[in-house]
Amino acid sequence: MNMYDLIVKKKRGGELVSEEIHWMIREYTAGNIPDYQMSAMMMAICFVGMTDEETKELTLAMAHSGDVLDLSGIHGIKVDKHSTGGVGDKTSLVLAPLVASLGVPVAKMSGRGLGHTGGTIDKLESFTGFRTDLTPEEFIRNVNTIHIAIAGQTANLAPADKKLYALRDVTGTVDQMSLIASSIMSKKLASGADGIVLDVKTGDGAFMKSFRDAKALAEEMVSIGRLAGKDVSAVISDMDQPLGNAVGNALEVKESVETLRGRGPKDLEELVLTLGSLMAVKAGKAPDPERAREMLKENLENGEAFRVFKEFIRAQGGDPEEAEHPERLPAAKYQEEVLSDREGYVSDILTEEIGRTSLLLGGGRETKESEIDLAVGVVLLRKKGEYIRKGEPLAVIHANSRDKVKEAEKRLLEAYTVAEEKPVPEPLIKEVI
Ligand code: URA
Repeated sequence: MNMYDLIVKKKRGGELVSEEIHWMIREYTAGNIPDYQMSAMMMAICFVGMTDEETKELTLAMAHSGDVLDLSGIHGIKVDKHSTGGVGDKTSLVLAPLVASLGVPVAKMSGRGLGHTGGTIDKLESFTGFRTDLTPEEFIRNVNTIHIAIAGQTANLAPADKKLYALRDVTGTVDQMSLIASSIMSKKLASGADGIVLDVKTGDGAFMKSFRDAKALAEEMVSIGRLAGKDVSAVISDMDQPLGNAVGNALEVKESVETLRGRGPKDLEELVLTLGSLMAVKAGKAPDPERAREMLKENLENGEAFRVFKEFIRAQGGDPEEAEHPERLPAAKYQEEVLSDREGYVSDILTEEIGRTSLLLGGGRETKESEIDLAVGVVLLRKKGEYIRKGEPLAVIHANSRDKVKEAEKRLLEAYTVAEEKPVPEPLIKEVI
């Protein structure tokens, strides 16, 4: 078998058989297939697509490309959550400690930023000293003692996805349904949780722009998970505007802290409560989602969720004082308001463009080797349906380089549509599968 033939076969619309997919993933993980050939294959898949059978085989090959975690040392029903990626999507930072505060064992594997979307691991690294390279022993011990651990994809867990994820990030090959489904589900199958709640985003800031594609992705992932014996649900949620107001790593951490203290944006809180209720029921900590929601809301209000968050930061080597005093987290040198040049209701926000503006400021990677700037990003002061007068600030740019402010300002103004008529609000939660 050789990679050249497989690339050409896929390019011509062929279906790869199980042995070919397993061979390709094994050899790529071992370093015997170069990135340029794998990039060509990823691009061919973007144009030609994969059948359900190919997607399932790709998922299994990646899930077994390294260790499969044995979480049997953790007491209770372990639940995990994964998002397909969005702009301002800091859900995990709030959800994981909140659910853990009910005693649900949250054993979570998270990723770095991908394309125009942010990643939980990058965000958490805003805390001085925070470690995500936990050994399996540390991971299990933390979940058993404080009910929560969030680790990056180290320790040889789905290493094929780790390599492919970094490659897709910089080759324009992220937004393909089978590649997303296999990337997410390979990690989830390798990381050993019993229950999984998937947050599938749809809209301009998501990889799946249409509801139809998002639903197909959700169904594909739920079906792969169930085949593997996992208790999986998916929530399809709106990404036609950023979630909350902050976009950018440390800025999102600050907003998450506010939310954990019960003072966060309502859309973020609502999504967290919806996903958290499903997780709590799967873990057997609540009889139904309604009761779970009440319990979660109580722990946001009484400080329990925030207490667990600080314990979690400490347990992974970070400084919990930075959560108490978020002004100590990385902050950008320049903060520039973007003033509206029109008056009316915000009727549309080009969400991917907001994510790209944060990348332009340095908040994401342009090549696999790029370092990201944790301090930069954008804070939106108006969301859809809100009124703005000419000259009032629409958003604030957080930048470390003056040169980039002008371009960011131009992009933000173009991303906003301000109209005379108030738009009809879109539901945040579109469907639960
Ligand atoms: N999240 C992942 O882990 N993988 C993808 O491909 C997209 C989002």
